[in-house]
Amino acid sequence: MEIIQDIQAFQQRMLAERQQGKTISFVPTMGFLHQGHLSLLEEGRGRGDLLVLSIFVNPIQFGPNEDFDSYPRALQRDAELAAKTGVDILFAPDAEAMYPPGCATSVQVSGLTENLCGASRPGHFDGVTTVVNKLFNLVQPHVALFGMKDFQQLAVIRKMVADLNMPVKIIGMPIVREADGLAMSSRNTYLSPELRQQGLALIATIRTLCAAAVAGQRDAATLIAQARDFITTQPDARIDYIQICHDETLQDMDTVDEHSVVLLAVRFGETRLIDNHYLLQPEPA
Ligand code: PAJ
Repeated sequence: MEIIQDIQAFQQRMLAERQQGKTISFVPTMGFLHQGHLSLLEEGRGRGDLLVLSIFVNPIQFGPNEDFDSYPRALQRDAELAAKTGVDILFAPDAEAMYPPGCATSVQVSGLTENLCGASRPGHFDGVTTVVNKLFNLVQPHVALFGMKDFQQLAVIRKMVADLNMPVKIIGMPIVREADGLAMSSRNTYLSPELRQQGLALIATIRTLCAAAVAGQRDAATLIAQARDFITTQPDARIDYIQICHDETLQDMDTVDEHSVVLLAVRFGETRLIDNHYLLQPEPA
């Protein structure tokens, strides 16, 4: 595996690979890799001749009071995991090089970014779409893989790619969970054992709501009230949102159908956890 930090060298290398007729699979991440990231790489490996991973903690997608400085970073360890997983090129640029002084362009998807995390993290998705656009221009991938863990992010990226006619196929991959059901996240490392235990309320809520929906409860307000009651029994939980939305429009739904996804964002202490699941699909194991 090759590690490239220099943007120009990376872009030239990618252009050369493409000219040789290689199919390029790309997985963008912020690093501190876990099995969720590795599942995207494993799928990407089979979908292209060349597997490219980026690791970049993107400053412009963090709000002023968010965890950019404390976001976990472990490039050496990540590089070892990436090499074992079959990554060919690891791109790890510096923030100064990605955003030199005078950078004045951003990419904004309206509509889909206004609800859910977009409401509680202003500007977050502009930072995501801008960096993903830049990365796509540098890599020029045929296929790019994203996790359904960040359900809204995946929808926003699909929309950007469609609206801007970007020649890349977006693949959404299922959420990878710890054995006890907690969705894997680089941020789980912030949780004390006590808060981590409380964090299991997310998967417990998802299981309860899916069971109720499958048993015939289709009223979204009733399901959300049930979820709120349960989450608030956890002493350190502060609900950011619990919503039932349409999987494509991300608009709130009154009545559950096969498009309905329950999306949750809850803070446990300082750590904000997100999770989601299609209500009428089998409960996560
Ligand atoms: P990051 O949080 O590092 O996630 C990188 C990719 O891994 C995303 O597509 C995310 O949905 C996926 N992922 C994270 N946890 C997962 C899990 N438990 N199961 C399956 N997939 C999972 O998302 C970002 O970085 C950034 O916003 C980025 C797209 C790289 C732009 O900066």
